[in-house]
Amino acid sequence: MRYSVTLPRLGTFATWRDAARALAGADVPPDAVDWRMEGEAEGLFDAQAMPLPPMDAPLNVPRAFPALAKQVIAARDPQAPHLLYSLLLHLRDAPRALTNRADPLVQRAEQTAKHIRRDMHKMKAFVRFREVSPEGANRRQFLSWFEPDHRIEELIAPFFTRRFGDMDWVIVTPEVTMRFEGGVLRHEAVASERLELSDETEELWRTYYANIFNPARLKVKAMQSEMPKKYWKNLPEAALIPDLIANAEARARQMQETAPSFAPARADRILSRLPERSVDRVGPLARLNACTRCPLGQMATQGVPGEGPQDAELMIVGEQPGDQEDLQGRPFVGPAGQLFDQLAADAGMDRTAVYVTNAVKHFKFQPRGKRRIHQNPTASEIDHCRWWLDKEVDHVQPLLIVALGATAARALTGNGRDLIKRRGSVEKGLSGLPVLITLHPAAILRTPDKATSATRIADLRGDLCAAVGMITSARQAQVPRGATTAGNAGPLS
Ligand code: URA
Repeated sequence: MRYSVTLPRLGTFATWRDAARALAGADVPPDAVDWRMEGEAEGLFDAQAMPLPPMDAPLNVPRAFPALAKQVIAARDPQAPHLLYSLLLHLRDAPRALTNRADPLVQRAEQTAKHIRRDMHKMKAFVRFREVSPEGANRRQFLSWFEPDHRIEELIAPFFTRRFGDMDWVIVTPEVTMRFEGGVLRHEAVASERLELSDETEELWRTYYANIFNPARLKVKAMQSEMPKKYWKNLPEAALIPDLIANAEARARQMQETAPSFAPARADRILSRLPERSVDRVGPLARLNACTRCPLGQMATQGVPGEGPQDAELMIVGEQPGDQEDLQGRPFVGPAGQLFDQLAADAGMDRTAVYVTNAVKHFKFQPRGKRRIHQNPTASEIDHCRWWLDKEVDHVQPLLIVALGATAARALTGNGRDLIKRRGSVEKGLSGLPVLITLHPAAILRTPDKATSATRIADLRGDLCAAVGMITSARQAQVPRGATTAGNAGPLS
């Protein structure tokens, strides 16, 4: 007689675990169990299968086993439950085997888990949301379609709830619908046809991709291995790829002919006069710590240069140092910096991997008693300070720059108007690099109305998420940066 276990499409791991525990408790050997997924045809002997033995004493497993098992059971491989059960019995006799990479069962399980992790990684990178918010909705609503290779929906859900916790979303796959509404996640095992999505969010992806695509560094094979063709049909930017590849040679020639000019000679003279900074910054940018080109430097305690890896893929540009930044000599360490850090972390951005700087490097304020009250920099102050920012952009050559607020938008694109209208869009910067326009955290902190402030927080978080996604996509598509060959670990681990 044999045992037969049917695993549901949702809650697969829990059902496997309970059955495996009962079977192992009764010492049932792996070959006496038929595992099948719900909906699959019954085996020849299923009708005569024995009921499962009663669950016995709890089964001890190595600490790393459940996490591995949750991945393996997600594999679209009919052998996966059998493999796992064999491994479970094996580990009961030899608990240390799990750390032995040469163990054949462990090897097979690890190999399977690797496919699952790769599938999850692709889903994180290639899910594209379309906004479908009805007028007046409290929370913004998004819809997405994705076709994973494996049954990873339940495994991947915590990633999306963490990253997109402040909006409602539905991700539809051919077998499961994942719904996150009002902070509550539900899965439904329903078969769905492919959803055709297209809207302005997709236009944004296309603009971004067209901007960061560097024809001079095109490696078609590497690009296709990181962004396999099977994902293209659901990626808005993929529609551009054939044309971009076809025109790459001509564009590369044009880029060479219109190579960027160098910073003015006087910038170098100023640099050569500056003393070396002794703080934790290294490289040529660290020396840019003072400037006397406009009067702001005379009031401020010090110039506050940017900080972060000199080959960062992502650059964040704020307005100007605030009171705390002026005293500490570091950008974004005061209240606005704390809000930024929190939203960046929500968006999966690692601040230590990002280059953070300001459009204007000195604190502009008006003394009022003992307090120093922040003043917006004028257009001419922004323009006077631009040489310094240009130097940073030119040196770091990020894949994407995020402009926080109107001052940064003006410094980076030449246009500081209509910030709210432009928010969330990617524009071509004066440097030629793509610039994602978004809100400034300090402006959000100054917003008196709670509801408006909550919406703006969600908007800024969403834009930072988009930036993370764009960098991830660019990295996976092997989109090279403008002039450097350096490749750091990147902001987005
Ligand atoms: N606001 C900014 O724009 N930059 C900082 O560094 C701090 C606050």
